Amino acid sequence: MGTPPEVHRGLEDVVALASRICFIDGKRGRLLYSGYDIRDLAAHSTFEEVAHLLWYGRLPTESQLAGLKRRFSDLRILPDGLAELIDMLPASADPMDILRTAVSALALFEPSETRPGESSIEGAQRLTAVFPTILGQFQRRRMGRAPPAPRPELSQASYLLYCLLDREPTELESRVTEVALILHADHELNASTFAARVTASTLSDLYSAITSAIGTLKGPLHGGANERVMELLDEIGTVDRVEEVVKGRLARHERIMGFGHRVYKVEDPRATILREWSRKIGEANGNLRYYDLLRKVEEVVFREKGLYPNLDLYSGSAYSLMGVPHDLFTPVFAASRVVGWTAHVLEEYRDLRLIRPTAGYLGATDLRYVPVGQRV
Ligand code: CMC
Repeated sequence: MGTPPEVHRGLEDVVALASRICFIDGKRGRLLYSGYDIRDLAAHSTFEEVAHLLWYGRLPTESQLAGLKRRFSDLRILPDGLAELIDMLPASADPMDILRTAVSALALFEPSETRPGESSIEGAQRLTAVFPTILGQFQRRRMGRAPPAPRPELSQASYLLYCLLDREPTELESRVTEVALILHADHELNASTFAARVTASTLSDLYSAITSAIGTLKGPLHGGANERVMELLDEIGTVDRVEEVVKGRLARHERIMGFGHRVYKVEDPRATILREWSRKIGEANGNLRYYDLLRKVEEVVFREKGLYPNLDLYSGSAYSLMGVPHDLFTPVFAASRVVGWTAHVLEEYRDLRLIRPTAGYLGATDLRYVPVGQRV
């Protein structure tokens, strides 16, 4: 064995590929989608506009936007067999497992999108349109309610809420969800997007790539963090207990979910935006409890560890105030990130090279084979 190889653990700072989709300046806390600042998009645009931007690299014209909205509403309906399959799965299952299973099964009903390396923008639109319906089919059954209707008049954000809550969302709820969907839609080579691109780089199909991505997003260090933030808030209970609980966790070397980021060295700009919306929805509900707790948690974590909040800190509390069950927070993340995943998969197909890094081998190199009967 020579000298141990230089390893970039977790591929930190490795530039694995070139992309035109998303730019992060982690030192200045800037995030751009195809050249547009996330703050402008969150303030002025819609999820549909952002989806068009990420897929085509430019904002839609009025008629392109109208066309995309029509396609989303046309594509919301599940194949009969898939609705039946979701109904057969255990009601106690984790909704991320349901989503992963349903997307994988959807491929069997839509063979044109499963030809290796040939996936199209229609496949991306189909998946984005159908995610809320899959989640609604499962959630409504858990609630003992009828499956969601396609509701062509609703935007994707309102449709998602309608699917999950089985009621009409208020204007504020729809806007908060719209902003959350915009903020979650892409984030360069995050773990789940990388997983999708690795799968696509083998010339596998779009639905396989998105199935890989869903499984990757599920983990608590990635998309699963927002749910864990709510567990922390439940444990804390009241503002006067924040110091004790947070310091206790840090003393036990536990991570505080919703803080820290591989790329941002300052506050995640998405957290800045969501904090404000979380306050607005709290005020509208006459319930600033989560907001106040989170502000205090921020203060203690920054003082003790110098860590800034990330996107996941405030999203869960906003969803929770709207009545979205905690185990659906990560699926809501997926219902947005599917746009970024599919944009990256399509980019991968256009500029394909098998993603296959190497490992620095640390094991022995000179062992002799000993027959099983002679081993001690
Ligand atoms: N709480 C406590 N300590 C932390 C945290 C945290 N949230 N994040 C990082 N650290 C510490 C970590 O313990 C380590 O300390 P030491 O050097 O003393 O061992 C140091 O900071 C570096 O940590 P790392 O794990 O090497 O850093 P990373 O770049 O791999 O971590 C991260 C990025 C997001 C995995 C991490 O910050 C984390 O686990 N955060 C909590 C989970 C979370 O909120 N995830 C959502 C990320 S944003 C949305 C998304 O992309 O999905």
